[in-house]
Amino acid sequence: MRAIRLPTACVVVLVGPSGSGKSTWAAAQFRPSQLVSTDALRALVGEGEHDQRAGTDAFAVLDDVLERRLKRGLLTVIDSLGLEERRRRDWLARAHRHGMACHAVIFPTTAEECRRRNRERDRPVPAKVLSAQLRAFEAARAGLADEGFDGVHEPGTVVLTSPELVGAPDAAARQREDPMPLSFGLQIPSYTWSGGAAELAPRLGAIAGAAEDAGFQSLWVMDHMLQIPFIGREWLEMMESYTTLGFLAARTSRIRLGTMVTGITYRNPAHLGKIVATLDVLSGGRATCGLGAAWFEREHRAYGWSFPPLKDRYAMLEDALQLLPLLWGPGAPAFEGRTIRVAEAICYPRPLQERIPILVGGQGERRTLRLVARYADACNLRGDPATVRRKLAVLARHCADVDRDPATVQVTHLSTALVGRDQEEVEQLVASLRPSGSSPEAYRTWANAATVDDHVGRFRELAEAGVEHAIVSLPDLDTPEPVERFGAVIAAFR
Ligand code: CTP
Ligand code: MG
Repeated sequence: MRAIRLPTACVVVLVGPSGSGKSTWAAAQFRPSQLVSTDALRALVGEGEHDQRAGTDAFAVLDDVLERRLKRGLLTVIDSLGLEERRRRDWLARAHRHGMACHAVIFPTTAEECRRRNRERDRPVPAKVLSAQLRAFEAARAGLADEGFDGVHEPGTVVLTSPELVGAPDAAARQREDPMPLSFGLQIPSYTWSGGAAELAPRLGAIAGAAEDAGFQSLWVMDHMLQIPFIGREWLEMMESYTTLGFLAARTSRIRLGTMVTGITYRNPAHLGKIVATLDVLSGGRATCGLGAAWFEREHRAYGWSFPPLKDRYAMLEDALQLLPLLWGPGAPAFEGRTIRVAEAICYPRPLQERIPILVGGQGERRTLRLVARYADACNLRGDPATVRRKLAVLARHCADVDRDPATVQVTHLSTALVGRDQEEVEQLVASLRPSGSSPEAYRTWANAATVDDHVGRFRELAEAGVEHAIVSLPDLDTPEPVERFGAVIAAFR
């Protein structure tokens, strides 16, 4: 069977006469909870699946169920005849109102076969009714292409992809035909690995070595004291960032090293500058200084740090952005910022790099991107290509305000990537990694689960939107193997 690519959040409208195989196909491709069938609803509100008098009520319940599922962003398959244009258009409009795609699947089973199957059923549809359906189907089939569906398919094997990956095959073809450059970084957001704490150091060293060999050009750790809720529970392993980077500096020789990103509240900023300068010297000039306004209040409470209001944290960040280059530069200038006063910004040895690049994390349009334009060497964006384009347009305006060429800001992007060599491996990975509390669709979307080729397409689209350096975190990271597997994606951009 051919593959039908569908986004994890969408509405699927089945279109076909009785006996064309709609329910059979849907049952094989989706979970029962994803199907809304008018037959089942007729049985629910009426006397049984065949209670034609219950039709109006069944459709009313269907519309209600659809609306509520759309609000939750859930994949929904509408299993009805789908032969009335008015209803199809209504479902499509509702899906689009909720920002969800709507696909039609048509069942071009021959009239002869439909009639044969119908005759074999316990309660066949009257022959005249089936003939009318077959005529209505031919009309629907002719008109469907112009109704505005995001895709019209014939039945096949459904491959669910995160909404960001729907256009990936075309983009991957563009990358093969006319390659664009894109460099890659690896973020390590978790240390919850087989072997526990005792094996952590050798495992981390092996992963870092594999990252260099696979062609990753940067390696990032989070700057957190507790694991963050987006990734896992707070008692799971989390390593101190700069100690870890010092270890990684010794275990690697080419890859750049940094935090994704350092919270401005955790350390006196002059002390932070000293730490980053030391990392730069010990790594042979490979440090990048990631900075952000900090957000995880919980760990400030836990560790006894103050967590000032956002406005003040931005003032601290802006102070640090001014102070750090002074500290890394020659001499011992005094610095007086809004939140810190440094009598002598003195740091020897000075970093090996003439300027340690500063990356400001976050994509807040008013404050964060303004700070990027004024002070930073790199930004870090998230989200789909449309979001990237929008953020870069805002960044360009901030750059214009300070007379800076936006091309001098390196555009980095952070995303999660679960990569299988083929669709079968993707399915295995999703099945083995998905936490019990999350649906396969939600996990697929969260992890961007897809084949190497689909990821090539996804990164191609990001590169077209302006991304220059794509940083990924690999949810199956436990050994160097997923890093090596990702190497196939990197290879498509060289
Ligand atoms: N069937 C079949 N081979 C297929 C698909 C279906 O033999 N490839 C048979 C099913 O076993 C069933 C009958 O055809 O006995 C009708 O299939 P079904 O999926 O129920 O068709 P629907 O399109 O859902 O029909 P209806 O509109 O009546 O619900
Ligand atoms: Mg059916």
